[in-house]
Amino acid sequence: MKKNSIYYPSLILFALAVASCKTQAPSTTSSSKIEQSQGVYQYRDEDPTVKPFFSDRQGVIGRNGMVASAHPEASQVGLAILQAGGNAVDAAVAIQFALAVVYPGAGNIGGGGFMVYRDNAGKAYTLDYREKAPGKASQNMYLDSLGNVRQGLSISGHLASGVPGSVDGMAEAHKRFGKLPWSQVIQPAVDLAEKGFALTERDALGLNRIKPDLNTINPGKTYFLKSTVPTDTVTWHKGDVFVQADLAKTLQRIQGQGRAGFYEGETARLIAEEMQRGKGLITEEDLKNYHSAWRDPIQAKYKNYNVITMPPTSSGGVALVQLMRFTEPYPLRKWGWNRDSTVQVMIEAERRVYADRAKFLGDPDFVKVPVDKLMSPDYLSTRWTDFSFAKASDSKTVKGGMIPGYESLETTHFSIVDKEGSAVSITTTLNGGYGSRVVIGGAGFFMNNEMDDFSVKPGVPNMFGLIGNQANAIAPNKRMLSSMTPTILEKDGKLFMVVGTPGGSTIITSVYQTILNVIEHGMTMQQAVNALKFHHQWLPDKTTFENGAFSDATVQALQSRGYILEKLTNTLGRMDCVLIRPDGSYEGASDPRADNTARGY
Ligand code: DON
Repeated sequence: MKKNSIYYPSLILFALAVASCKTQAPSTTSSSKIEQSQGVYQYRDEDPTVKPFFSDRQGVIGRNGMVASAHPEASQVGLAILQAGGNAVDAAVAIQFALAVVYPGAGNIGGGGFMVYRDNAGKAYTLDYREKAPGKASQNMYLDSLGNVRQGLSISGHLASGVPGSVDGMAEAHKRFGKLPWSQVIQPAVDLAEKGFALTERDALGLNRIKPDLNTINPGKTYFLKSTVPTDTVTWHKGDVFVQADLAKTLQRIQGQGRAGFYEGETARLIAEEMQRGKGLITEEDLKNYHSAWRDPIQAKYKNYNVITMPPTSSGGVALVQLMRFTEPYPLRKWGWNRDSTVQVMIEAERRVYADRAKFLGDPDFVKVPVDKLMSPDYLSTRWTDFSFAKASDSKTVKGGMIPGYESLETTHFSIVDKEGSAVSITTTLNGGYGSRVVIGGAGFFMNNEMDDFSVKPGVPNMFGLIGNQANAIAPNKRMLSSMTPTILEKDGKLFMVVGTPGGSTIITSVYQTILNVIEHGMTMQQAVNALKFHHQWLPDKTTFENGAFSDATVQALQSRGYILEKLTNTLGRMDCVLIRPDGSYEGASDPRADNTARGY
C-alpha cells in the first residue's frame, strides 16, 4: 500500500533554504524553558508574566492500559473494556457509544469522525467515517436567488445535517480489529441510556444553555429538556440522573443488528421521517448507501519521530505535517517555550498552512488533493521565501501556494493504548455543540450540522472563520472538509504518543503545539496539555492566545513586528492524550479545561 510519506533527506534542502533567506532571529529578552531534572520537568520562570500552564493537573500513570476522553463516565467504560480483555479498538467503540449518551454535545451517533489506529506490530490504518452530503444536496443550496448566503441554514435545523457516519465507522472498525463481541462493547452505552447517569455541572449547564433551541426546533418532543413546558424555568442541576429511553432503544437496535440497526429499518425510518417533518434532505436511501472509508495514513518523518495522521477528508494531517516541517529547522528548544522567535515562526507557518488549506483541500473522492506535494520540503521552501524575522507577513498577500498542474464547536477526542501496545486516536463530532440541535423524534439523539464545514460560497467564512473554494464546494454524497487531527507518533520506530483535540479550526494548531511541547520543550504529556496555547489561521489575520500564554515581553516583541494579538476570554483545546514513557509505562493526560478524564491500570 502506498503511503503518503516524505523523503527525509530533502529536508536538508529546506533547512538550507531557511538559512539562506532568513535574517538572524532577534534574541529573546529572557529565558523561560522547561528543563528536565532527575526525570521531573521544571518550568524555569525568569519572567513572572509568563504563566505557562492552565492548571497543575498531574498525568495518570498505568502499565497495562490507558484511556483519556472528554467525560469521566466514558473513560470508565473504556477502562472496564480494557480490563475485561478488550483491545484498544473494543475500548474505542465502547467509548464512542458511551459518549453518545453522556456527552450529547459532541459524542454522537448522529455525526461522524476519524480514527487513526496503530496495531502493536506497528502497522497503521485510518478510517474516515465523516458525514456525507445527502444525495439531494447541491452546490448553492444555502444561497438565495441573488447568490447571498441564507444565514444559519447550514448551522441549525434539519437542512444543516450530513448523512451520519459514526455507527458505520464503529461497525467497520470492530469488524476488522475488535476482539470482544459487538454486543458486549455496546452494552455499557445501553446501560447508561436506560438507567441514566448523574450529570456533571458542565453537562447540566450545556443542556440548560440550548433550552431555547430545543423548544423551537423540537417542540414538546425531547427529554433533553428537563421540562417540556417552554415557559417553565426548571433547569438541570449537577447530580440529576438523566435517562434517555429512546436512545437506549436505538442503541439496542444497533447492538442487535450492527450497522443495519441504524442505516436500515426502524432507526432509518425515524431519521427520514424527522427530515421530512423539518424539510431536511436525508432519505432512507442516503442512509443505506452510507459507507465509511479506509484510507492510507499520512506518515511523515520529523527528526527521529514518525507522525501517523489523518489524510483528507481531513485537512488536519496535511496541515500538521506542513507546520512541523516549516519549523523543524529552527532551534525552538533553545529559544524557549512561547518566546517571541518561537511564536513568530509558528505563526508564520500557520498563516501559510491555512492559506493552502483553503485553496487545495477537499474530499479526495471528489477532488484531486496534492497531498504529497503540499508536504514536500521543496514546495514548503518556496512558501517560506518571504518570511522575515523583522516583520509580520501580511495575510492579504499570502495566498495558497502554486502547485504546477493543479487547477485551481463541539467535537470530542479520545486516545487509547491497550496492554499489547495497540493505540487508537479518534476525533468525532456533531460539528457545533449539540450539532443542528435537531433531535430525531422517537430515536432520541442529536443530528450533526456538519454541512457548515463545506464552503457554502467561495470566500465566505464558515462558523470557524475558515474560508474555502471549489475543492470544498457542496456536491451530492461528498464529504465536507475537516480540521480534525487524530494523530499517533512513533519515536525510533516505537509507539510514543497518541494525541488529539476538538476546537474547530484551532484543532490543528493545538495538536501541533502539544506535540512540540513534548518533543521540543521537554514537557510531560500532562504539562503539554496544561500548557496555554495560541492560534493563527491566515484569515482573519490575527493571533489569538489564552490568557497567560505570552509574557509581556513576548507580546511587545511581536507587536513591534506588526503582529495583531488578541487575548482570549475562553480557552483553546480539550486535549486527551497518552504518552509512552521511557520505562514503558503510559502517561494519560486529559484536559483540565473541562470534564476530561484519564483512566489507566
Ligand atoms: O471537522 C471539523 O473540522 C469541525 N466540524 C470540528 C468542529 C469542532 O471541533 C467543534 N469543537 N469545538
